[in-house]
Amino acid sequence: MSGRFAEIHARSLSQPETFWAEAAEAVHWTKRWERVLDDSNPPSYRWFTGGELNTCYNALDIHVETGRGDQPALIYDSPVTASKRRYTYTELRDEVARFAGVLSGCGVGKGDRVIVYMPMVPEAIVAMLACARLGAVHSVVFGGFAANELAVRIDDATPSAIVSASCGIEPGRVVHYKPLLDGAIDLAAHKPSACVILQRDAARCDLVEGRDVDWAQAMASAEPHDCVPVAATDPLYILYTSGTTGQPKGVVRDNGGHAVALKWTMKHIYDVEPGEVFWAASDVGWVVGHSYICYAPLLNGNTTIVYEGKPVGTPDAGAFWRVLSEYGVSVLFTAPTAFRAIRQQDPEGALIGEYDLGRFRTLFLAGERLDPDTLRWAEARLGVPVIDHWWQTETGWSICANCIGIEKLEVKEGSPAKAAPGMDVQAVDDTCTPVPPGDIGALVVKLPLPPGCLPTLWNAEQRFREAYMEEFPGFYKTGDAGFIDDDGYVFVMTRTDDVINVAGHRLSTGAMEEVLASHPDVAECAVIGVADALKGQLPLGFVVLNAGVERSREDICREVVQLVRKQIGPVAAFKTAAVVQRLPKTRSGKILRGTMQKIADNEEWKVPATIDDPAILDEIGDALRGVGYAQGG
Ligand code: COA
Ligand code: AMP
Repeated sequence: MSGRFAEIHARSLSQPETFWAEAAEAVHWTKRWERVLDDSNPPSYRWFTGGELNTCYNALDIHVETGRGDQPALIYDSPVTASKRRYTYTELRDEVARFAGVLSGCGVGKGDRVIVYMPMVPEAIVAMLACARLGAVHSVVFGGFAANELAVRIDDATPSAIVSASCGIEPGRVVHYKPLLDGAIDLAAHKPSACVILQRDAARCDLVEGRDVDWAQAMASAEPHDCVPVAATDPLYILYTSGTTGQPKGVVRDNGGHAVALKWTMKHIYDVEPGEVFWAASDVGWVVGHSYICYAPLLNGNTTIVYEGKPVGTPDAGAFWRVLSEYGVSVLFTAPTAFRAIRQQDPEGALIGEYDLGRFRTLFLAGERLDPDTLRWAEARLGVPVIDHWWQTETGWSICANCIGIEKLEVKEGSPAKAAPGMDVQAVDDTCTPVPPGDIGALVVKLPLPPGCLPTLWNAEQRFREAYMEEFPGFYKTGDAGFIDDDGYVFVMTRTDDVINVAGHRLSTGAMEEVLASHPDVAECAVIGVADALKGQLPLGFVVLNAGVERSREDICREVVQLVRKQIGPVAAFKTAAVVQRLPKTRSGKILRGTMQKIADNEEWKVPATIDDPAILDEIGDALRGVGYAQGG
């Protein structure tokens, strides 16, 4: 039905309160809201003030009570441990209620924080939902982060308890989580009073007496805990994401707006009906995992999949097709990197033919720019619509999407389609004036943001305002730049800050620079993101050594690479550094990272008019060629 999307989008902006109040009827409230939108304190907005609900009740109990008790809620598929498990809605509810009892026994109550540092096991989802059940606030930390990153999050979130596991399993190696956890607690000033540890067969661990609790033992004697109603505006979780410095931003998600928005997206964006199988092949440590492995599919009565494996190598590039066919998945959501990895190993998509994908309807991709080659490959090989959508940890759901549940719009390569309902996206210049269609500008979203988006940063309201609200008054700054065409299609081109995107993971070059700078031989440094055919971008470091340092440059490069792995974690994928005499700078001392990146990627570049000494760029070119970049001359 042509024009339906335009009409719904227009209504969401002209009558936001009516629009979202209607969506809120699909959620169970223990107390109805008094105001749909509280706009009394801009730029802070709150949705559904006065309302009370429990997110876990909406994700689990309600489905048991309305006849879905025997339907699978969660399927665990783990090629790395050769195991599979299913939980019906009744089983998952009971497991979560008992684990809420365990946490309550550890002293966790409403408003307390709980850090969840776990691999991709169902217990991670159980822990998240148990927190939601108690009205506690979870903060999941991705397993690929090192002890130091975990320590920073412990000190910021000050959790009463931490839930973790003895180990995670990466292809070819066991990641021992417990020493990382113990190391982080040693490093942190704040000490949690309890840690609940899931012992896994691949590597069991020692427990610290008086602090650590064994998951299985605690569950055996725990009493189930009921759902605790919380205010719509109370925090459900904190999820740390990279900013421009080493101090990550604690994105806060509320309970009410989040439940309303996410449930709404399942029908209107993903076009999924309750009862269908929905698979987000991501990790619970990222926002995609929070929204689309855990909350949205469960709020909508779908079956969700927790997949502990990779797109390739577990055991081959047919792994995704096996899961799609084995569980009758209707919709898959993953990052373009996963598809690039599959295509690299199976260019013809020959393995697809080995599986029955009869139930598979739509592929959604997000997390990084969807390059046209990957889009075309996926469309041609799978024969289903491939939908790009753009969103961020901060928004928790799509800023732009082809909302196929409303009306499937034409696909334009390179664009995640149009602003989603509730989102008024504009491309503006430095003075916050909209730029003409087709011109690049900062991508901003007019306030108020719709329900589900961040109301603040944890313990950092001032940083929230400075980072997102001040540069373009009346708008939320996404940190992305791009353009909007004559038809309203948004094209997201690049970040405007020091954030890079590696395999769909958001990383801060600033944080890596802080680590390089801590090396005793390093005087100055810069980290840039260079193009990579598989992961989209990879970090690359330049270091200037202190005067008089005569140690081998190779040794120093190896040490800084190790230092980033140790301080930030393997997920940073920081593998290359080069020693240079000087860094290119403007006359006012600003490092010309953008020019270095263009040289590395063989893009067209000009000597910046403000450069202090243009000759330095030749040296940078040589250094880049030495590590395999800037090969174009
Ligand atoms: N715990 C511990 N270490 C982890 C980890 C975890 N949960 N996840 C990743 N790592 C490690 C990896 O083992 C790897 O370590 P290495 O340097 O020793 O090889 C490093 O972190 C980088 O991981 P990754 O980015 O996953 O690269 P990879 O080379 O192992 O795999 C892909 C490449 C493309 C298969 C992988 O990046 C992928 O599946 N991407 C899909 C994208 C995705 O899920 N994005 C999430 C947002 S939607
Ligand atoms: P994260 O907060 O980790 O989800 O990362 C969000 C960032 O990833 C965005 O600000 C974009 O830079 C990038 N991103 C996510 N989805 C897309 C997309 N569909 N197209 C282009 N960039 C994207």
